Amino acid sequence: MTEILNIKSPADFIGKQGNGVISFGSGQPDLPPPKETFDGIDLHRDLRYGLIQGELKLREALTREYPGSTADNFVITNGASEALDLIFRILGKGKKVLLTKPYYYSYPPIVESAGMVPVYTDLIDGRIDVEDFNEKIKGCCAVLINSPSNPTGRVEAIETLKAIEKLTQKLGVYVVSDEVYKDLIYERENYHIQGDHVITVNSFSKTYCMCGVRVGYLWSADKKIVQDVCELKTHTSMNTNLVGQDMALSAMKAPKEYILHQQKIWRERRDFIYEGLLKLGFDLWKPEGAFYVLPKCKDAKQFLSILYQDYKVITYLGEWFGAPDRLRFSYALDIKQIEEGLGRIREAMKQVSVL
Ligand SMILES: Cc1ncc(COP(=O)(O)O)c(C=O)c1O
Repeated sequence: MTEILNIKSPADFIGKQGNGVISFGSGQPDLPPPKETFDGIDLHRDLRYGLIQGELKLREALTREYPGSTADNFVITNGASEALDLIFRILGKGKKVLLTKPYYYSYPPIVESAGMVPVYTDLIDGRIDVEDFNEKIKGCCAVLINSPSNPTGRVEAIETLKAIEKLTQKLGVYVVSDEVYKDLIYERENYHIQGDHVITVNSFSKTYCMCGVRVGYLWSADKKIVQDVCELKTHTSMNTNLVGQDMALSAMKAPKEYILHQQKIWRERRDFIYEGLLKLGFDLWKPEGAFYVLPKCKDAKQFLSILYQDYKVITYLGEWFGAPDRLRFSYALDIKQIEEGLGRIREAMKQVSVL
């Protein structure tokens, strides 16, 4: 009998690879960054402290993606993760934040460690239920939305995003919009939620396949938010890695074809894993963006344990994302590995009833 592992978070699995392991765990692209990323990178550059807000050239380059903005609207951070952490810490202890559930597993710990109180609205079939959202937002100082979503792979309808834009503007509630998968939408262009009360969080990790370089940013039209974030960052991480910022700036010089080519690869993988899991009998949503599937799974803990210990397959528990009785698969691996992984899953399904 396979031991049931007591794994409380993805921390045990992040970075695990080799030795025949097939990892559907970590959400990090396996594809190479654009070749431009390495152009003109001078490792002998001046490595003294940089601007807390981020290198001016990188912030200026980002204004092209945010029409009407200036370099002053951005703070370059150590990944989207630091941007989220700083934002909630400046918004204020004791205040409520509305989160959609299932959520990216770091959201509740980030909000709670900032001394804030998470309130949840349950997604229906992976999408925001506007009625419940409108109800639960009462008394909150901010909402955190994530489209395309990790872990559901869903992309919110433009009407829903516009309704949120309008409602939060009216109520004076901040919208923190985590758009790290903005370039990974299979169905349409990203709708970039806008307004004075919007704080957009983004990253070079996913679009440019450079998770380990740790460069992300936040955008806000509200100068006070930018100032407060910079003040806190001065006393925490200080500036973001300078060479990483140079690499991010160079990566942005890649032609649009780079992103289109990535999307093609992700779409093929999406179709392959979606069809494969359907054939195995799983009930799941077809991802419209990002690179995750979240099938229903009975005895998810036992199945995860069997998959890992007996078949060297890593999956993440839906429970970590607020979705018990589901497993989350990242398909950030090539089709051959996905195929091999699906074969192992088929074998493991003989040991436990998961459907
Ligand atoms: C929804 C979401 N937000 C933020 C992050 C963190 O990204 P970064 O590598 O930029 O810190 C991730 C990483 O998987 C994510 O899925």
